[in-house]
Amino acid sequence: MSDTAAWWRSAVIYQVYIRSFADGDGDGIGDVAGLRQRLDHLADLGVDAIWINPWYPSPLADAGYDVSDYRDIDPRFGTLADAEALVREAHDRDLRIILDIVPNHTSSEHAWFREALRAGPGSPERDRYIFRPGRGPGGNRPPNDWRAMFGGGAWTRVTEPDGTPGEWYLHLFDVEQPDLNWENPEVRADFEKTLRFWFDRGVDGFRIDVANSLIKEQGLPDVGDRQHHDPGPHPHWDRDEVHDVYREWRAVADTYDPPKVFVAEAWVPEADRFARYLRPDELHTAFNFDFLKAAWRAPALRESVERTLREHAVVGAPPTWVLSNHDVARHTSRLARDPAAGIGTSLDSMIDLPADLDAGLRRARAAALLIFALPGGAYVYQGDELGLPEVEDLPEASLDDPTWRRSGHTQRGRDGCRVPIPWSGDGPPFGFGPGDDQPWLPQPEWFSRFTVERADKDPESMLALYRRALRIRRETAALGDGPLTWLDVPPGALGFARDHGFALLLNVDAEPFALPEGAEVLLASGPLTDDGLLPQDTTVWLHVA
Ligand code: NOJ
Repeated sequence: MSDTAAWWRSAVIYQVYIRSFADGDGDGIGDVAGLRQRLDHLADLGVDAIWINPWYPSPLADAGYDVSDYRDIDPRFGTLADAEALVREAHDRDLRIILDIVPNHTSSEHAWFREALRAGPGSPERDRYIFRPGRGPGGNRPPNDWRAMFGGGAWTRVTEPDGTPGEWYLHLFDVEQPDLNWENPEVRADFEKTLRFWFDRGVDGFRIDVANSLIKEQGLPDVGDRQHHDPGPHPHWDRDEVHDVYREWRAVADTYDPPKVFVAEAWVPEADRFARYLRPDELHTAFNFDFLKAAWRAPALRESVERTLREHAVVGAPPTWVLSNHDVARHTSRLARDPAAGIGTSLDSMIDLPADLDAGLRRARAAALLIFALPGGAYVYQGDELGLPEVEDLPEASLDDPTWRRSGHTQRGRDGCRVPIPWSGDGPPFGFGPGDDQPWLPQPEWFSRFTVERADKDPESMLALYRRALRIRRETAALGDGPLTWLDVPPGALGFARDHGFALLLNVDAEPFALPEGAEVLLASGPLTDDGLLPQDTTVWLHVA
C-alpha cells in the first residue's frame, strides 16, 4: 500500500451499501462476491478507500444495523474467507477498507439479548442492556418518555421466563435493536475484541454508527419536550462520558502500524460539541452533516464551509464533505427542488415538491467539484458517480425501511436511495446480478439512463467528471488537507484558492461572470457561456499563475 500513515486526512472514501452494490451469486441481494467483481470500477474511479455498510449476521430489521454477531459475515453476503479475500484484493489496488461498527445497540437476535430474556430481572445477562421496571400500577407504563428514532416509544415490555409481564428494555431505534449498557465492562471489552478481530484481518478502520449515543444519563430522566437536535444537555445524546469510550478505542487503533482510523457518524448540532469527537486522542474524522444540510445558496454553503473549517481547526482534524449516504434522499433529487423551499434531508420532506431533474444534475456536478476541492476528505455514496436520482415512487409493498412500518405507513423512509445499482443493459436487473433475478428492491425502467456501461462510453457523463476530478485531485498536491483562502466573487457565487495556484469558482445563482485573466481551466462541471463566462450552477477548477 502506498502513502503515509496520514492518508485519511485527504482521503476520498466510497460508500458501498453492500446489499445494493453488486450481486455475485444471483439471489437479488448484493454481496462480497459482487463487490470483489466490481473493485476495478472503484479503482478506476480513483477513490482511496471503501466504507462498507454492516455485513454481519443480522435479521436485517434495520438493513444490518441490527447485528447479531459482530465477528462474522451474514451468509447472504458471503463468508469470512470472502471478506479476507476482499481486503487483500482491495489492498492490491491501493484501496483501503473501512467497516461499520454498531455500538449503541445489537439485534434482538444477538446471543446476549436472548440470554438476557432467559435470565430474568437483576441478572448479569440483563445488565448488558438497559432493562427497567415499568411505571404505574403493575408496571404497565414505560420507565420514561423517550421516543424511538423510527417512531413510537423507545421501550418494549418483555414477558418474563415465568410467563408474567415483566421489565421493559430500551431501544432508541427499532424494537429489534435493544440498546447496550455502556456502563458494563463486559460490553466495553467485547467491542475492543471486535475492533481487534477486524483490524487483525487487515481492515483499515471503522465508521462508528450513532457515535453520539451509547451513554445514557444516570437515572434515565424524562426528556420532556426537548427535541432530538436541541442544543444543550440531553439525557441520551452526546453525553460527556462517551468520549472515554473513544479514547480507549483510539488507544487500540494506535497499537497498529500504520494506525487504524475512525470516522464518526454523529449528528451533533453544536459545532463545538461536534469537534470534541475529533480531539487528537479520540476519533480521526467525522461525517460533516452540517454541510450536507446546507441549502444550494452561496451564503449558506460558504457559512457551512467556514463553520466547518473553524471548528475542525480548533482540534487539528481534517473536515469531511458528504453529499449523500444511505440515510438521506439522493442529492441529485434534493438539488432538483427549489433551493428556497427549505427541504430537509429525507425523501418525505420533499416528495410533494416539483423536481427539475436537469437542474438537480447540473448542481450535483457543480457540488462534486466543490467537495473534491475543499480541504480534507470527501465521501462518495454509491451511485453519486452516476448522478443517480432518488427512486421516489417505490411500490409500497416493497418498502423495507423500519421508518415505513413504525410511522404507521406515513413516512416512506430511506429505501429510495438504496435501490440496487444499474450496471448495464436496458432493463431491470441492469446487470446487478449474474442472471435475470430481480433485486431485493425494484429498479425503475428509467435507470437505463444511469447505467455504468452507458456512463462509461459518454465523455460528458457524471462518471467521466468524477474520474477526471479524482485524477486531478491525486495529481494536485494542493488538494485534500491544507489551507484555503476565500476569493472576492460576485454575490451568489463562491470562490477560493488553494496552494500552488489552484482556484475554484462556483456560480450558484449570480449573473454569469468572467474567469480571472489568464486562468487555465483544469476542469468545469458544465459548459461556459459562448463568451466564456461562468453560468449558474457551474463550478470550475482553475490554475492561476
Ligand atoms: C445510523 C445508520 O446510518 C442508519 O442507517 C441506522 O438506521 C441507524 N444509525 C441505527 O443504527
